Amino acid sequence: MARTASLSIWAFALSLYFGMTKCHFSIPLRIYTGKYNISSALDLAPLRQVALTSDGNGLSLASDPTGTVNFLDMVNNLQGDSGRGYYIEMSIGTPAQKLNILVDTGSSNFAVAAAAHPFITHYFNTALSSTYQSTGRNVAVRYTQGNWEGELGLDRVSIPKGPNGTIIVNIAAILSSEGFFLPGVNWQGILGLAYPMLARPDSSLEPFFNSVVQQLGIPDIFSLQMCGAGLSASSAADPAGGSLVMGGAEPTLYRGSVWYTPIVEEWYYQVEVLKLEVGDQNLDLDCREYNMDKAIVDSGTTLLRLPVNVFNAVVEAITRSSLIQDFSSGFWDGTKLACWMKGETPWRFFPKLSIYLRATNSSQSFRITILPQLYIQPITDVDGTLDCFRFGVSSSANGLVIGATVMEGFYVVFDRAQRRLGFALSSCAVNGGAALSEIAGPFSAADVAANCSGGAPKEPLLWVISYALMAVCALILIILLLLLVLPCRRRDRSGEITDESSLVRHRIK
Ligand SMILES: *[C@@H]1O[C@H](CO)[C@@H](O)[C@H](O)[C@H]1NC(C)=O
Ligand SMILES: *[C@@H]1O[C@H](CO)[C@@H](O)[C@H](O)[C@H]1NC(C)=O
Ligand SMILES: *[C@@H]1O[C@H](CO)[C@@H](O)[C@H](O)[C@H]1NC(C)=O
Ligand SMILES: *[C@@H]1O[C@H](CO)[C@@H](O)[C@H](O)[C@H]1NC(C)=O
Repeated sequence: MARTASLSIWAFALSLYFGMTKCHFSIPLRIYTGKYNISSALDLAPLRQVALTSDGNGLSLASDPTGTVNFLDMVNNLQGDSGRGYYIEMSIGTPAQKLNILVDTGSSNFAVAAAAHPFITHYFNTALSSTYQSTGRNVAVRYTQGNWEGELGLDRVSIPKGPNGTIIVNIAAILSSEGFFLPGVNWQGILGLAYPMLARPDSSLEPFFNSVVQQLGIPDIFSLQMCGAGLSASSAADPAGGSLVMGGAEPTLYRGSVWYTPIVEEWYYQVEVLKLEVGDQNLDLDCREYNMDKAIVDSGTTLLRLPVNVFNAVVEAITRSSLIQDFSSGFWDGTKLACWMKGETPWRFFPKLSIYLRATNSSQSFRITILPQLYIQPITDVDGTLDCFRFGVSSSANGLVIGATVMEGFYVVFDRAQRRLGFALSSCAVNGGAALSEIAGPFSAADVAANCSGGAPKEPLLWVISYALMAVCALILIILLLLLVLPCRRRDRSGEITDESSLVRHRIK
């Protein structure tokens, strides 16, 4: 077996070199650019943008708190997948109107469609709810992808497969949107589960989960299991589903122990990444690079997103260790798929990815590891004879995002009460009995900075280079001054010198 495997890797490399696929062991690699619609990924971290000012909003409505919470009743209350998002069914208004609501830990507004839109089947009709109260205020939210505008109101909401009871919550009734509802999604609203600081119009608008905790008296914890690991990100088949457990963690949804990392700041669920490994290889960047300008855990983002420097280092390390030198850059930047003959799964060519997180004991860390099955993601129905895959990692200009690609490997506990996030092996991240994720620790964190979230890394080399360039420029300027000023003193110096120096700068380039 081992011999066959190494032969096939060799043949694979050969076939890449010669563009031939005759050898029995070869795996034809093709980069596909056809039908695949790159926009089939969510990216719902809200941008820091506030549309309207607010006069504040005190929310003090009573409700009917209940007794005990049975977590087992909430198992499998989600549907969906990483590409189109995971959603939960809710009953909104009186009489109840049922809508599917996207679960998003990267924003803090509860918003539902309140007008027709070509990509959704139905919407919340506020006129038909006797308990809906408009506040007369407008609200707008812009996400990394898409935006919406609407009206703020209040209404009664219950979650059929959630904690018992009805709560009165802030609802943004979406009246218009752009790029927010996508073709093929089966949800009509969004449940932002992050902290008040991200709520629009401002942080005084109590987010949904804060209202749940306050009105139902459940513990300030929720946990999330997303079960799309290894399944096609764009298949039209039955969605994989998952669980959103409100009030605690359900033991049947994970194996082994829960490892906790502190929440650095309560806005997004911001965590501190200490180290990244590709295979056994430490990327060895300054740890502040990993947290530039933040590192967050966001179920509303499909991919693992990495700051540009980190992303480039990861791609380089994967290219080196995967023996696949010939990948078109289009695969890495997400514009192309890589395809193999049906049945030739490419996962064995790719390394594991590990993220080290600060442990609650700050001198220690633990690591979460995803297997290639999680980040080399099958896309079905591209071509009958090929299996095609997309790269589940992308580069980011606004921080590291642990999105669904990684979260699908783990049961993630959002322990707001103790200001920490827990990671455990997800009971559904398995394929044919083999786990698709790993957790290990504790490791010493003595080799990294005391605070990797604390601002921009110093780049000594760049500073040296920029000072050197400045010195060169100054020298050239002085020479120019001498050349211009000495021969003809009567000229208008400043104008001439400016022109000359810019000319020189262009030549140096
Ligand atoms: C791809 O997505 C874009 C933007 O959402 C849409 O306009 C276009 O029709 C889609 N194409 C296909 C083939 O689905
Ligand atoms: C809701 O209440 C019913 C009846 O008391 C109980 O059987 C059920 O487990 C409760 N569900 C939850 C999620 O607590
Ligand atoms: C934290 O970790 C350090 C280093 O591993 C260890 O020496 C120390 O005892 C730990 N502290 C606690 C409270 O567990
Ligand atoms: C690290 O720095 C960030 C940003 O300055 C700050 O919010 C955080 O509290 C610091 N953490 C520690 C443990 O000092």
